[in-house]
Amino acid sequence: MPFNLPEPWRVKVVEPISLPSEREREKRLKKAGFNLFDVPAEAVFIDLLTDSGTSAMSDNQWAGLMLGDESYAGARNYYRFEEAVTEIFGFSHFVPVHQGRVAENLLFSTLVQPDMIVPNNNHFDTTRANIEIHRGLAVDLVIKEGRDPAAKHPFKGDIDLERVRRLFEETPRARIPLAMLTLTNNSGGGQPVSLANIQGYSELCREFGIPFYIDACRFAENAFFIQQREEGQQGRSIPEIVREIFDLADGCTMSAKKDGLANMGGFLATRDHELLETIKQRLILIEGFPTYGGLAGRDLEAVARGLWEVMDPEYLRFRVSQVGAFGERLASLGVPIIQPVGGHAVYIDARSFLSHLPQAAFPGQALVVALYRGGAVRGVEIGSVMFGRKDPQTGQEIYPELDLVRLAVPRRVYTNTHLRYVCDVLEEIRDHLDQVKGLKMVYEAPVLRHFTARFEEI
Ligand code: F0G
Repeated sequence: MPFNLPEPWRVKVVEPISLPSEREREKRLKKAGFNLFDVPAEAVFIDLLTDSGTSAMSDNQWAGLMLGDESYAGARNYYRFEEAVTEIFGFSHFVPVHQGRVAENLLFSTLVQPDMIVPNNNHFDTTRANIEIHRGLAVDLVIKEGRDPAAKHPFKGDIDLERVRRLFEETPRARIPLAMLTLTNNSGGGQPVSLANIQGYSELCREFGIPFYIDACRFAENAFFIQQREEGQQGRSIPEIVREIFDLADGCTMSAKKDGLANMGGFLATRDHELLETIKQRLILIEGFPTYGGLAGRDLEAVARGLWEVMDPEYLRFRVSQVGAFGERLASLGVPIIQPVGGHAVYIDARSFLSHLPQAAFPGQALVVALYRGGAVRGVEIGSVMFGRKDPQTGQEIYPELDLVRLAVPRRVYTNTHLRYVCDVLEEIRDHLDQVKGLKMVYEAPVLRHFTARFEEI
């Protein structure tokens, strides 16, 4: 598929980026111990590390910043934020937070106790960590196609309703404080969830009296996939689909750093008024007063405007088609990717691409290094570096199922030409695969080792 849709925006302000020389890239890699988290962003040409907090704001959002009301309590921008949350999602009880994981922290620290279980299609890392820190169990129940990188299915983010029913039947109600669903399913490749699946899950939760919460980070992209792919949804508007999705839920956690089109922000919404009152006390302790929740008034305004903008059908059509075309082009070059392409990123199957490297040589990280070396492109390894760990008894490395590299596309930031350049870099790598060297980990921290690990080339 070619990049055939032009960007539905024109450039008003530019931020210069530059391609460091080969020598400079080599120097940066060595200095960073071959860990791209340790390379300054200025030395990166095309940064596909994440789509989170990296969006370009619109002229309308920037204009909104000037209307920031920095009053401690009841700033006018809070009411604009409230209007957006109420009208778009239908939740009248919520608190703003500075990013998604704080919403998770507030929710799970209030509801989760040791041995409790929280099901999800796939928990994102911070969601899982915020459950596990209270010694709860974060259980992933995505459908089997969602675990198979090659399986084609329009809604690979769907949760397996049979397994959910079994879990609900076999577990005492008091051990499941809430059920979650991630839209789109980031840890499962940014794959969407169908409306039918959301309905089925919501009904099951109601049948068993379990509150149903949505991880809403990429709600608009998910709604677009529903409109495009699900039977009977074609004629409906995005806001209509979004509202129906959230009418099925008891609450949501939201990182506005994704589909809020903002650089910072989020919220936690719930229909449980009593719960929200408890949460507000904690919020005041860790984030701030309930009308600003860790955000400046101007940030609240940027999110309020971004939440509406992200549902623009023209924007969404471009967004999803740009990421899709990026993936299709890579596939046509023979780069193995997770199919079909999800909403916000392309995931390369690094182990099958660099088949000459054993898992012990970290093929995902090796590809991340090759991307930087080849063209100052930054992606992120999602594989043995991020999820591998040492067996506490034997000291042997335990490897995850897949070694992926995620190329996440920031919203409204890069043009099709930038992404074509990334494809060219990967084409070069493909032509000289045997030159991609494996890595040896020479330093690792005891937790979240991928952020600070250091490597040497073999
Ligand atoms: N839930 C999902 C599905 C996410 O993708 C993220 C963040 C969060 C929750 C946490 O939100 O960062 O605002 O605290 N994902 C980013 C990423 C970091 O790169 O995928 P946050």
